[in-house]
Amino acid sequence: MFQSLKNFFHIKIVMNLYSLRNYFTNNGAVWLRLTGSDLEKMVSKIIDYNRLDLDNKNVLDLGCGTGTMLQYAVENHQCNAFGVDLIRLNIHQAKKKVPSGNFYRGDILLYLNDLNEKFDLVILYGVIGCFTISDQKMIIDKILASLNPGGILWIGANLYEDFNYKFQTYPVPRDFYNVYKESEKFIFDEVKEEKLFGKHKYEPEQTSVMITHQP
Ligand SMILES: C[S@@+](CC[C@H](N)C(=O)[O-])C[C@H]1O[C@@H](n2cnc3c(N)ncnc32)[C@H](O)[C@@H]1O
Repeated sequence: MFQSLKNFFHIKIVMNLYSLRNYFTNNGAVWLRLTGSDLEKMVSKIIDYNRLDLDNKNVLDLGCGTGTMLQYAVENHQCNAFGVDLIRLNIHQAKKKVPSGNFYRGDILLYLNDLNEKFDLVILYGVIGCFTISDQKMIIDKILASLNPGGILWIGANLYEDFNYKFQTYPVPRDFYNVYKESEKFIFDEVKEEKLFGKHKYEPEQTSVMITHQP
């Protein structure tokens, strides 16, 4: 009950305030502590780390905020961009940044129920913790079913429940990813974000999880 109230407050009030602030300051990141160039650096490191060739491939950003990561990917890797966000103002800005992109203003869960595309990179950065554990599992399974061979799901800002980070609404239990680690269909990788991105502005224990559909 407390967690769902906290989540409601987080999404319906805090996220909208951030979006309003971004609209006026032109900051490309939704979360207060980050900037647009932080997001560009993170997505570029993820692309390099996984040696992704995204030329003419499909990249989906779920909870894309103002579209900063998609803009970077389109401008530097000539990919096809798809973005989803709940907040109208974010989608408005994302469409301006990525005129060629395909954007959906609405709930990630609804979007994933009606997918017609396959993807080569799916980004879930700073978003997964907005969903209950059972919804997180459902979202991940739907994304994995939509990956092209060699395609990758990047879950950023992953936190486990024993980290007790006050802003994370639904952190995952320690054994949450075991099913993906053990699956032969996928390659599972997890790295502390400080190691991947350098000195990080989030929690030091935060990780990025990468699940690749076996090529
Ligand atoms: C912390 S922000 C991260 C945004 C972006 N990925 C970034 O790194 O700047 C979380 C984003 O997820 C969006 N979001 C949260 N719950 C959502 C949902 N159920 N469906 C679609 N978008 C959602 C919010 O509107 C917000 O833009």
